Parts: sequence; structure tokens; C-alpha cells
Amino acid sequence: NDEQRLAVVKEHIGEFPDFPKKGIVFKDIFTALTNGHVCTCLKELIVNHVRSKCPDVEVIVGLESRGFLFSFTIAAELGIGCVPVRKKGKLPGECVSVEYVLEYGKDVFEMQKDSIKKGQKVLIIDDLLATGGSMEAAVRLVRKLGGEVQEALVLIELPFLNGRKRLDYRMGLAFVFQD
Ligand code: PRP
Ligand code: ADE
Repeated sequence: NDEQRLAVVKEHIGEFPDFPKKGIVFKDIFTALTNGHVCTCLKELIVNHVRSKCPDVEVIVGLESRGFLFSFTIAAELGIGCVPVRKKGKLPGECVSVEYVLEYGKDVFEMQKDSIKKGQKVLIIDDLLATGGSMEAAVRLVRKLGGEVQEALVLIELPFLNGRKRLDYRMGLAFVFQD
């Protein structure tokens, strides 16, 4: 069941102290994905979550870069589309952009102008919520394009950084586990 899957995933997340800067403990999802059984557990966890909590979602938005793994996985399972939020200058065509602040820096996120249709029900996914700056920026972008954010889903939440405080209270924030 999902409780057992969660335990399996949790114990395989990598931890790298002082990366990419001194004082940051970097939680590495890729460490977990080297194990095939963990991949299957994680896929089932997130797909079960979306099917039960957001059954009528129409498009999955994934944040560069680790969010892409999970947006495609959910989209393929549900038979719906996925759309990227990328760092500045990576996407072709007309884009909308917003600036945001990270746990260890600052950046600009972009989405292609026609990637979301007005009123579409959107689920945004990323691997991790730290300060919430990335997720907040993604929510702003999706809303700029007229999408309706049904849920912001992250696999790992770092609760001591209070990232959820930056997210709109009307928006569902879900996480697979805290660390
Ligand atoms: C990491 C992580 C989230 C973001 C969370 O990505 O994958 O997207 O930081 O931090 P926040 O809640 O403080 O905004 P990173 O910017 O390192 O990019 P990458 O996935 O492309 O390596
Ligand atoms: N993004 C921001 N903070 C992070 C952390 N501590 N581990 C992994 N990704 C992050």
C-alpha cells in the first residue's frame, strides 16, 4: 500500500551536506531513482495521489528540472498533457516570465504563451519545496496564462523554511512527505 511505498521512497532519498553551498543539506531525488523498485513505488504514490485528490485535472505542469520527471509520469498515466516551466531563455516561441528567489540564489521562470488554455485545470508538480519561491512563481505563471491551479504537489517539503506560507491559501499544497 501507499504507506509502505512511502517508507521505501523516503529511505532512498540522498542527502548531501554543504551542496551547492555551505549550510545547505541537499536532498537528492536522483539517488532514489537509481533503484528500479523505488521508481515503481514513487510512480504509484504520485499517480494514486492525483487520481484520488485531483481526478478532473486537465494538464500537469512540471518545474525545471526535476519536476519534469514527475509531470511526464503523471501525464502519461492519466493520458493528459504536460507542460514545462523552464529557466529563462530555454523555451522557443513567445513566453511569459516571472522572477523568483531560491534557497541559494535568484532566477527567472518562463512558460510558453499558448501552453495553457484559459480555464484549464492545472496540477503543478516539483520534487521539493524549500522556500516556496519556485512554486509561487510557477503558480503566478499559470494564472497569468488563465489556468486554474487545482493543486501544487511536491514530493519533499522542508518545513523549517516555511515555504507553504508563500503559497496562496486558496491553493491546495500537498506533499508526499516532510523531512
Ligand atoms: C530546486 C528544487 C525546486 C526548488 C525548490 O531546484 O528542485 O525546484 O529548488 O526551492 P524553493 O522552494 O526555495 O524555490 P533548482 O532551482 O535547484 O533547479 P534544478 O531542479 O534545475 O536543479
Ligand atoms: N532546492 C532548494 N533547496 C534544496 C535542498 N535543500 N535540497 C534539494 N533541492 C533544493
